[in-house]
This record gives sequence, structure tokens and C-alpha cells, in this order.
Amino acid sequence: MKFSYEKSLLEDSAIEPLIQELSPYRDHLKTVSKHTDYLEPESALQLPSDKALLENVTNSAIRLHSPTLQYIIVIGIGGSNLGTQAVYEAIAGSMNLLVDRLPKLIFLDTVTDEKMTAVTRILEHLTNIDDFLVITISKSGTTTEPIANTEVLWSAIEMQFGDPRSRFVFITDEGSPLWKIAEQKKIEHFSVPPHVGGRYSVFSTVGLLPLALAGIDIAEFVAGAKRAVIDGTSPQTSKNHALVSACLTHLHVKQGRTIHNSFLFSPKFEVLGKWYRQLMGESIGKERDLEGNPVHAGITPIVSIGSTDLHSMAQLYWGGPDDKYTHLISSFTGEVHALPHQVALQGLIPNINGKSLESIMQAIYGGVKSAYEKKERPYVEIDLGQADARELGYYLQFRMIEMMYLARLMNVNAFDQPAVELYKETTRELLT
Ligand code: PA5
Repeated sequence: MKFSYEKSLLEDSAIEPLIQELSPYRDHLKTVSKHTDYLEPESALQLPSDKALLENVTNSAIRLHSPTLQYIIVIGIGGSNLGTQAVYEAIAGSMNLLVDRLPKLIFLDTVTDEKMTAVTRILEHLTNIDDFLVITISKSGTTTEPIANTEVLWSAIEMQFGDPRSRFVFITDEGSPLWKIAEQKKIEHFSVPPHVGGRYSVFSTVGLLPLALAGIDIAEFVAGAKRAVIDGTSPQTSKNHALVSACLTHLHVKQGRTIHNSFLFSPKFEVLGKWYRQLMGESIGKERDLEGNPVHAGITPIVSIGSTDLHSMAQLYWGGPDDKYTHLISSFTGEVHALPHQVALQGLIPNINGKSLESIMQAIYGGVKSAYEKKERPYVEIDLGQADARELGYYLQFRMIEMMYLARLMNVNAFDQPAVELYKETTRELLT
């Protein structure tokens, strides 16, 4: 991953005091990352070095992978599915249409008849109970949406195939209500380390098991994350992009740029953007600071897709208020489709003959950078290289460490989300 901040409109001298301020916390993160006890709030940093976990997930994926497996339905919401979906779509594509990629992951997050109908129709066309697997993920084991989706699928599968227990896997906190049911009903189940919160859990079984089942190289994925932990706890600022990035974001917030725009140059990265949106939204948006004083802190994370959203948001970004700080995130991996040298619709766009779609996107990307510069709006560039499992592992871990630093600078707790509970409790009350 390449991180370039020449156009952030901030000098190194401005971030230097913040880097110094964070130095004890950087040392703390390094220490925590070397532990194996999963007892600290930052324990997610221990996951990439957990060899036993990787081995266990790899072996479980082999065991659960039947020869005819075609679909894996991942039920979970927020931190329990976004990381997995982000990685899967970045690799498999946003349309999930490549027929040679089996098994396919299908995600059920919110409760919708439309998605549930699509899934049950797929199941109706399957003849063998081993053709699919359902993975229900809920750390608390009590979130309404995943439980409701599990129930509907459970009864659909029971009606079609009989006893559904062998086709369900639960991933939840040890001892949670879902865990207890898994034990009672003898359903395969896996735990999440207690101090690893949903949005920090993609390198636990939560992300690793479905990704491994989908054929994604999880050893490479965690190797990328491991590298990001080494870099993100390094005193060498040229390597420590997480630290630098957190400082830049903090300074922009102080200058009034309280909107953070992840501008990703491919539709297959949309969920990657949404995963980060959740990470930032839940980690930084806080009513109280670490001492309990009311602060109402927060940065509003938004996601833009290039080039689609240039045709809806660029006017606002370059003509509207200077309240946004942008990360341009790209991966140019090689040319596949190209226009013919003799185009059918002559004369519409000059010089387009023979150009690949990727080179057109690169030209658009260049145009976007130039617009930001002309309008003197700050941006950084993140190049995801080939956006393969290793690179994505690096990126996700880099973002989690960045968020820990940023929360520290903003003096808020990066790991809780008390406000989310407000709706969860009332929803349960309204259902009575
Ligand atoms: O990041 C978080 O902690 C949340 O977004 C949770 O993942 C989300 O609310 C789902 O909770 P659970 O996994 O307990 O069902």
C-alpha cells in the first residue's frame, strides 16, 4: 500500500507535535500487539499473529467445505459482516457474477423481504443440503436483524431439506445467548475474543472463516495485517502511515474539515468504504470524552465511488464549503477491456479509440486530482496495488490502527458504541 500526503495541504512540521504526543500510545500498541492474552481494548492487534487461530480456521474451512458447496450465506450486521463483505467484493467484484468463483458469499444484513426472497429462491434450486452453508455472526448474540434472518432461513431450509443443523455455523461471544443455543442444539460454533469489538473483528473467525470458505487466501490476508501492525507501531514515520494519517485527519478536523470523504475508484470497493465509515462513525462519534465530560465529538465519514459520484457530488466537493478532507483510494491492476481501434460511434469522444477502460479511469483519476489542486482542497492518495488478499489485509489493519491513534488524539474511547444500544433496546421493546 502506498500512502502519499503531499497534497494534504499540511506541512510535516504541523504533524510533528502530534506524533510526539502519540509516542507513548504507539509504544503501548506495540506492547499490546505482542501479547497473546486478548485482554486489552486494542487486542484486535493480536489477531494477525495468532497462529493457532489461523490454523484452526483453515482446518475448519476444509472440514466445512463440501465438494458441492455453491453458496455461503453470511448473516450478520455492522461489524459482524462489513469487513468480510468489503474484502470479498474487493476480490470477487461488486456484482458477484463471475460464475467460475465458487462458492459465492451472499450477505444478509438488514431484514428485507426482497433479499430474503432472492436467497430462498437460490436455495429452492439446490438439490443437495451440502450445496450451501449459513454462517450467522453476532458477537452479542442478541441483535434483532441477524436473529430474525436466521430464523426465516432456518425454517425455509427445514421445510425443504429437513433438519438444518448441519448447515448452520454460529460465530458469537462465548456464553452469549446464541452460543448457549448452539450448545443445546449441537450446532457448530466459534467464539470471538471478548475484547475484540465488531468493527475490529475481521481478522478473527468473524472474517477469516467465511473468507477462507470462499477460497480467499487468509494466510496472505493476515500476513498483510501483520505487516501493518509492525509498520503502524514503528517509530519510523516514513513507514507508519497509520500514525501520520491520524495526525493529518485530526488537524483537518481542527481546521473545520469535519467530513471525511473516502473516494474509492471502483464500485468493487464500495463496501470497503462503508466498512471504514462504520469504523470511523462508531469509534469517533462520542457523547463523552475519556474523562466522562460531554463533548459530542465526531467526524462524518462519507463514501464516494469514482467515477460514478463525480456526476452527483463533484460539484459540491469543489464548489461547496471547504469542510471535507478526502482520501483518494485506487488500484489500477492492468487492462482487460479496451475499445476497438475503429469505434462504432465515431467522433463522439476524441482520442478514445483503442483505449482500455482502465486507462480511461486513470485519466479520470488524474482529472480528479487536478480539480482538487485547482480548488485547493486537501487530499491524500492511497494506492492499494493489486488489491489482493495481502494488500487488503494491510489496508484494513492500517485503518484500525489509524482509528486508535485518532481516537486518542480526540480523547474518546475508540472501542465502545453506547448510542447504538439505544435503538437495539427499543426495537426489542417494540416487538413485545
Ligand atoms: O462494531 C460494532 O460493534 C457493531 O457495529 C456491531 O458489530 C453490530 O451492532 C452488530 O452487533 P452484533 O455482532 O452483536 O450482532
